Amino acid sequence: MPPAIETRNLTKVYRSGRFSRPVKALDSLNLRVEPGEIFGFLGANGAGKTTTIKLLLRLSFPTSGEAYLLGHKIPHTASRARIGYLPENPYFYDYATPEELLNLYADIFGMPKDLRERRIGETLERVRMTQWRKTPLRNFSKGMVQRVGVAQALLNDPDLLLLDEPTSGLDPVGRAEMRDLIQDLREQGKTVFLNSHLLSEIENICDRVAILRRGELARQGTLNELLSVFGYEVVADHAPEPLAEKLRDRGLETLHANGRMTVLLKDPGDIRPVVEQVFAHNATLLKVAPQRERLEDLFLTVEGEGETRLESGPGSANEEGP
Ligand SMILES: Nc1ncnc2c1ncn2[C@@H]1O[C@H](COP(=O)(O)OP(=O)(O)O)[C@@H](O)[C@H]1O
Ligand SMILES: [Mg+2]
Repeated sequence: MPPAIETRNLTKVYRSGRFSRPVKALDSLNLRVEPGEIFGFLGANGAGKTTTIKLLLRLSFPTSGEAYLLGHKIPHTASRARIGYLPENPYFYDYATPEELLNLYADIFGMPKDLRERRIGETLERVRMTQWRKTPLRNFSKGMVQRVGVAQALLNDPDLLLLDEPTSGLDPVGRAEMRDLIQDLREQGKTVFLNSHLLSEIENICDRVAILRRGELARQGTLNELLSVFGYEVVADHAPEPLAEKLRDRGLETLHANGRMTVLLKDPGDIRPVVEQVFAHNATLLKVAPQRERLEDLFLTVEGEGETRLESGPGSANEEGP
């Protein structure tokens, strides 16, 4: 199967006015998203995430480079019907009801009448808005409007979804709902490309991520590949003090309070002897897990690399400004 998304040296320079300086929003982006993946596209505000989605949808024209969606070089009319898009700040006419709005989009898709009724019903069900189908949007919370936005993006049963900051502005309940929805989409085999500056979102749901820094791709890979393991953690309950002491005597970092013991190991070779001691002392083994760098740490590292480059780099880098 061809990649769901592929870009080759995709570049966008904005030239807004005659006298304003051109802005290189995207610089030779090479991205590859496999079918069925949930792909997180990460970057600080202004990094070029929205620009990338707009280029993929041909809402904006690239300065150079090319892109392929579902195996077709864009622009490609037929593959468009297989793509759903949730814009960054969707604006919907707020006197309309979800049903009216989806009918409007079905018109745009040229969906036949019998199919349309079924799809609207299914989509509203999927985003759990069926009971509100006849209520004007102006009465909805931000989370509900966002669900209508997702319904709009799902209406044509797309294979590939491009979601621009789907959880921004949502409260924790709304964010959790959006996460569940995205996970449902994964189970249906859909590909989801998700822009976000919210690291926890990405960390919780994405298979692979890319980090964009001022228009340049700084990292791309699975979270396992990108986040290094710096140690291992063994946690046990009902641990007697002599057990903790024994491990401390061996020079292992051991925390012990109210029977709960946490041992932090650098060497994976220590896991087995520690676990054996846990069993030997009749303690309850709760957890053996790698300790990974957090996505937030990686993100700050990447941003830091950018700062260093700006400070020490040649004149051209300095001209870009922070
Ligand atoms: N239409 C435009 N005209 C000029 N500059 C733009 C335009 N759209 C975006 N930019 C600039 O391009 C850069 C990337 O913006 P954007 O893609 O919106 O970033 P993100 O979505 O990652 O926050 C920013 O510096 C932004 O100011
Ligand atoms: Mg954006």
